[in-house]
Amino acid sequence: MESRSFQGVVRYHEQTKHHFHRFAKSLGYMDWDNQPNPFRTYEGVEIIRLPLLKSDPAAGYDDLYTRHGNQSRPFVLEQVAGFLELSLGLSAWKSIPGSQWSLRINPSSGNLHPTESHLILPPMDTREAGVFHYNPLAHALERRAVVPRELWREVVTHMGYEGFLVALSSIYWRESWKYGERGFRYCNHDVGHALACLSLSASLQGWKVKCLNGLSDEEVQRALGFHEVEWVEEEEEHPEILCFVHSDEAPDVGPRRLPPDIVSALSGLHFSGKPNVLSRDTYRWEAIGEVALHASKPVTPEKKYRYGAKEPRGSTAPAPGASKIIRQRRSAVAFSGRGSLARDQFLSILERTLPRDDRPPFDVELMEPCIHLLLFVHNVLELEQGLYFLVRNADHMAEIQSVSNPVLQWRKVDEDVPLFFLQAGDFRRTATRVSCDQEIAGESIFSLGMIARFRETLREEPYRYRHLFWESGMVGQVLYLEAEAHGVRGTGMGCFYDDPVHEIMGFKDNAYQSLYHFTIGEPVEDRRLGSHPPYAHLKPQRL
Ligand SMILES: Cc1cc2nc3c(=O)[nH]c(=O)nc-3n(C[C@H](O)[C@H](O)[C@H](O)COP(=O)(O)O)c2cc1C
Repeated sequence: MESRSFQGVVRYHEQTKHHFHRFAKSLGYMDWDNQPNPFRTYEGVEIIRLPLLKSDPAAGYDDLYTRHGNQSRPFVLEQVAGFLELSLGLSAWKSIPGSQWSLRINPSSGNLHPTESHLILPPMDTREAGVFHYNPLAHALERRAVVPRELWREVVTHMGYEGFLVALSSIYWRESWKYGERGFRYCNHDVGHALACLSLSASLQGWKVKCLNGLSDEEVQRALGFHEVEWVEEEEEHPEILCFVHSDEAPDVGPRRLPPDIVSALSGLHFSGKPNVLSRDTYRWEAIGEVALHASKPVTPEKKYRYGAKEPRGSTAPAPGASKIIRQRRSAVAFSGRGSLARDQFLSILERTLPRDDRPPFDVELMEPCIHLLLFVHNVLELEQGLYFLVRNADHMAEIQSVSNPVLQWRKVDEDVPLFFLQAGDFRRTATRVSCDQEIAGESIFSLGMIARFRETLREEPYRYRHLFWESGMVGQVLYLEAEAHGVRGTGMGCFYDDPVHEIMGFKDNAYQSLYHFTIGEPVEDRRLGSHPPYAHLKPQRL
């Protein structure tokens, strides 16, 4: 018997597919006057301006993932500031005559940035513990509540280590303003990108991020005091995930939840702050309200996930420092069509997307890996052009093969990387066509669709619908950085034609579904765009 929630998420997914002759429902035009403000602030609260990094952490790009040499920093405001600057802060301002807009370390569909972040911090420097909203425009914390010292000690005693809590939330309206019903999908991609950014930035500080995967959405929203906020209709923040950040010198943080009495104590704090109004008008997308309910997460048994400790084959990236790569990450808007990568580089990029114990970002321990990659390989040297498949979870291999077109060859390409050759051919036009006719898919070195184990993942746990998108966003974030590290560039693509992708694999039903596309190639810069430093608008701060 299928639950109503399972049916609800499957219905939403079907309803929000793009087809060659019919896009998912949206307004059909851009209501520019009403574009939501991409920056939330809480008005009427104490603001703590954060210092900008005087110099970036010295870690090399590989250290991001291996954690070798990333010395564990103390939990003081200066380090938390650095952690936020290199995860969710601004990365640049772009301009054309008459208009300028900011970019961030974390990418976002349509640059609309539906993801907000909140922190529950211990007493730091001379300041009391508290619940804070992070405002990336001002690079500031907005104090929404004071946490009594004894309550914070209870959190630390329960977790077993010093550290702090960081949470992500989504404002659906920011995406649905442009993308209509499909906007819920994009919000969740963006959560995945942001979660990966947190994990990777924490690694630079010698810290680890762990998802408190036993908590329900209701508990997260109470711990953040969202029940006390007077939201403007449709501009609410929806709780996504609460994580604990601790030193990576601690062998393993114990629990993956907070006990109900701590959640109750946090929810009983005095919260203040009035969220700013983001749009003049809002529009209610019923389909999003419904799927959000069907995909809401209940309390679940807390779980530790193990992914295997296999040592990576070693990166081929001739990359400079990790922070430089993190800061320079951008989405390509056009490719030359002439770029190439060596076979070894291609394999090393793919290997980075595999989950491993103790390797960020997947060691946040969200779930068993359920995302696989269907690759359109256009120009990788010493590798035949054609269709390939990266199996990110070997337990799914036989099942994927059984639901795929029997003509696909499944020939193993490499001893270490679970990559399989499926079919030879020039797939440039196909890749462009199925990616909403976006030329960056066909003009690339390779592009891909992220294929999720869908039906059986969601049947018992419909809330995993969101997590599947998060996982795809995390894979996307690794691909973005890997592309930069190899001297090329990536772009996430939320726009693709769903079922035509499934036809390439021969899928007949929703056992597996494509959730996100990505492309990597040699970028062509748009020279009309001006580029400006991220925080020139702020006066320097001293702690
Ligand atoms: C989930 C997601 C979906 C995206 N979809 C597309 C897309 O379909 N086409 C495209 O050209 N860019 C796409 N992008 C790239 C965004 O437009 C880009 O991240 C945003 O403009 C911010 O620019 P930046 O990535 O250079 O910081 C997507 C990004 C994300 C994170």
